[in-house]
Amino acid sequence: MKITMITGPTAGIGKSLAYQLAERGENLLLIARREERLKNISEEIQNKYNVKVLYCVTDLTTQEAPKNIYNFCKEHQLDISTLVLNAGYQINTRLHEASIEDEEACLRVLGLSVIMQTKLHLNDLVKRGGGKIMVVSSIAAFAPTSKEFAVLYGPVKTFMNRFVEGINGAYNKDNIYATSVCPGFTTTEFHEMSGTQERMDKVPSFMKMTADEVAKEGIAGMDKKKEIVITGGLNRFLVNTLKFFPRSLITIIGNALAGGRYK
Ligand SMILES: NC(=O)c1ccc[n+]([C@@H]2O[C@H](COP(=O)([O-])OP(=O)(O)OC[C@H]3O[C@@H](n4cnc5c(N)ncnc54)[C@H](OP(=O)(O)O)[C@@H]3O)[C@@H](O)[C@H]2O)c1
Repeated sequence: MKITMITGPTAGIGKSLAYQLAERGENLLLIARREERLKNISEEIQNKYNVKVLYCVTDLTTQEAPKNIYNFCKEHQLDISTLVLNAGYQINTRLHEASIEDEEACLRVLGLSVIMQTKLHLNDLVKRGGGKIMVVSSIAAFAPTSKEFAVLYGPVKTFMNRFVEGINGAYNKDNIYATSVCPGFTTTEFHEMSGTQERMDKVPSFMKMTADEVAKEGIAGMDKKKEIVITGGLNRFLVNTLKFFPRSLITIIGNALAGGRYK
């Protein structure tokens, strides 16, 4: 069965992506940790859109997760045609305050698991004559690195953008296209989960998008085989113009707009 796999569909952007992709008839394999949510969302999507939805409870912080997901696909004879690698969170402490295990787990979810899941499925995509990969990155990939917390978050998102570039360079000839979706501030559970809701509340509402808006732009960009999709006109303007400004000025502007995130 031809199917789209989505990591992190139990909340936020991933959940919106799941509903929007199902609405246009795509069968789904949903990957996350919270089983109750996976079950409820799967049932609701199946009933609403008449597509097949499977789920596989997985903690992407574990080293074996990518192989377990791949084996699940083989056992259930699922032909993944689109990989949506969206799951993520950030660590709300300074680098020296978090344990090495916590930093490693976060890097695995945001980075290594994205690479390993892509790598495992590439062989099948090449054999089947093509496929699509969406990585949900962030405009943090282009912004100055936070000096307070989540020091590794921006750098790993930059790495993911370069990874997407690398996949396109190496696999467009096999009809495989990768898209990096780079949202700015998006109203999801992300900030509450990472203990940064207070900072998010200080961000002016004109800077925030909904998960549905981000998902819609992301899917449209993926359909057009765009390599980078910066969601929202304001975010595109900021990323495209601020690169001509000195870093110090960007930090001042970033702090003014982003609730002191870059102090
Ligand atoms: N919100 C923003 O402002 C914003 C801005 C730029 C980029 N992003 C990026 O957008 C992506 C989605 O974030 P969101 O804002 O939609 O956050 P969210 O509402 O908190 O949703 C995060 C999703 O990731 C899953 N997840 C987290 N840790 C996981 C783990 N260890 N194993 C498996 N699944 C895991 C969660 O599922 P379970 O908890 O059920 O496992 C949940 O479905 C992330 O990559 C984030 O970096 C967000």
